[in-house]
Amino acid sequence: MYYPDELVEEIRSRCDIVDTLSQFISLQKKGSNYVCCCPFHNEKTPSFHVSRNKQMYKCFGCGEGGNVFTFLQKYENMTFPEAVEYLAPIAGVTLPERDNSKEAREKAGKKARMYELNKDAANYFYKVLWDENRGKLGMQYLKKRGLTDETIKHFALGFAPTDSREIVRYLRSRGYSDEEMIASGIANYSEKYGLSSPFWNRVMFPILDEQSKVLGFGGRVMGDGEPKYLNSPETDVFNKRQNLYGFVFAKKSRKSRFILCEGYMDVISLHQAGFNEAVAALGTAFTSEHARILKRYSPDVYLSFDSDGAGVKAAMRAIEILRQKEVTGRIINMQPYKDPDEFIKNLGAEEYEKRMESAEDSFLFQVHTTQKKYNLDDYAELTKFHHEIAAFLAQMDDPLLRDNYLNAVAREYGINSEHLRQAVSKEAMVLANIRQREESRSADGKKVSKEDHVKHTEQLLLTYLLEEDGLYAQIEQYLTDNDFTNELYRNVAKMFFEDLRAGNKPNPAGIVSKFEDADEQSEVSALFTTRIEELTDKRDREKAFLDILLKVKQNSFEKWKAENGNDISALNEEIERKKSLEELKRINIRL
Ligand code: CTP
Ligand code: MN
Repeated sequence: MYYPDELVEEIRSRCDIVDTLSQFISLQKKGSNYVCCCPFHNEKTPSFHVSRNKQMYKCFGCGEGGNVFTFLQKYENMTFPEAVEYLAPIAGVTLPERDNSKEAREKAGKKARMYELNKDAANYFYKVLWDENRGKLGMQYLKKRGLTDETIKHFALGFAPTDSREIVRYLRSRGYSDEEMIASGIANYSEKYGLSSPFWNRVMFPILDEQSKVLGFGGRVMGDGEPKYLNSPETDVFNKRQNLYGFVFAKKSRKSRFILCEGYMDVISLHQAGFNEAVAALGTAFTSEHARILKRYSPDVYLSFDSDGAGVKAAMRAIEILRQKEVTGRIINMQPYKDPDEFIKNLGAEEYEKRMESAEDSFLFQVHTTQKKYNLDDYAELTKFHHEIAAFLAQMDDPLLRDNYLNAVAREYGINSEHLRQAVSKEAMVLANIRQREESRSADGKKVSKEDHVKHTEQLLLTYLLEEDGLYAQIEQYLTDNDFTNELYRNVAKMFFEDLRAGNKPNPAGIVSKFEDADEQSEVSALFTTRIEELTDKRDREKAFLDILLKVKQNSFEKWKAENGNDISALNEEIERKKSLEELKRINIRL
């Protein structure tokens, strides 16, 4: 934490959530709450609720929630300290200088160090690129590819000098250790050369996350050479399955669509041409995590993959992944060009926009691509083709959607739609069998589902305790924060119980800002905003609460036993714990 908890809490309590959020979004009063369409996902009817009472917000559509700090982090891309600094003057609070001494930096943890290292390296490459002599070749290359100064600055492109040890020397002078450089992938060690960087004589593309922190790099050779692109490895801060190149800008484009392409240069060219909704997976296949991230902002994705065989194959896979997440995919035809970069260069932005308007529906794209495999003049092949169409259709769960597509392809290929329907039913049965088998097989993956279950129970218990005044006092002697096996919940419980024992009133929004990470804040705030299943009868609620408490205690006991059960000296404690469990079964709760 950069700033003391008390100051953070003072700022938060002085910045009313409705007033603060109203600076960014337009809220409507509704009952005791304020509502609007969620700024974090695309929707037509408002499910974003802001509570002045709780000083928190929550979207019942996408689940995003938090306090004023969370909002600024998610909406304005600020880091936690930045959000605090932004609100401080509004709250009339003067902050102490941020502690930037070497000791403090060292304490800030390995991850923070790696972000810093990456940022320093990016700055260095950037400086070299803009140096008239040393960056000349790189700058010439980027200019030849049609990038403007503005674009080069916007994407913070750089140049790695020919001497592969230069960046090592520079980072050393900034106080980074060899281990830190190796861990970040910026350098590696060999007997022959000692410590040197794999990135040399390449134009450098820093990869940013949603908060504009540098996760790693892509480096391109100038001209021909292998590999064409060299990418940072996965590290403690760089997860390729979860990050998309260009996303930090695309998510702020506030357009109701994304363009998904394959390469760094494709993204950059598209942004330069005004399509700042373009993103790309990073030297890896598109994943369902990528799809989930995109869906948070828009359910419409235009695919602009390479038009060669490999590009079509990758598009076919991406379509399936998007469909599973209920994202509509459309395919942009870039013929006769290879990729969006080349297309834009040759035909321009206007023509590209036209191609977007005439983009092909992803299902029809799948059908047309599949059709090319078959010779439709041959009856056996024609039949195979029809069965393959049926298999595609069978995967669609929405019956209306399936029917519309079925009629469309039946018409296009002159297939008897009744026969096609029968074939689809058959395929659906095959599919259901496969799914069933897969599910029973995953039954031995019991551990995962049990963990989820335990987590959910712990969440409910906390929600009850946070929502119902006076409940904690009744069970205080039976429950400690150590009974929570989920680390995040354990931390919340610890703070919350300390507050209560000190006689302080529970302060949901204050607890949320004890966590720096915006995603953690969201998860914590969900504890306060989850509605406990509406049990109107008090008795039912009391009974439900006791059940939950017992489950949590039981699980905590089992976990303790697994860790300490063989230890003879723990026998006394075991007896105590068992006794306490038995007692708990007989207590009465008054709500
Ligand atoms: N890629 C990679 N490693 C390689 C080749 C490609 O990681 N050896 C990734 C890069 O993200 C690249 C994308 O795959 O941007 C697409 O590759 P490709 O189509 O070969 O290159 P282009 O994007 O067309 O690159 P350029 O226009 O610079 O030639
Ligand atoms: Mn290209």
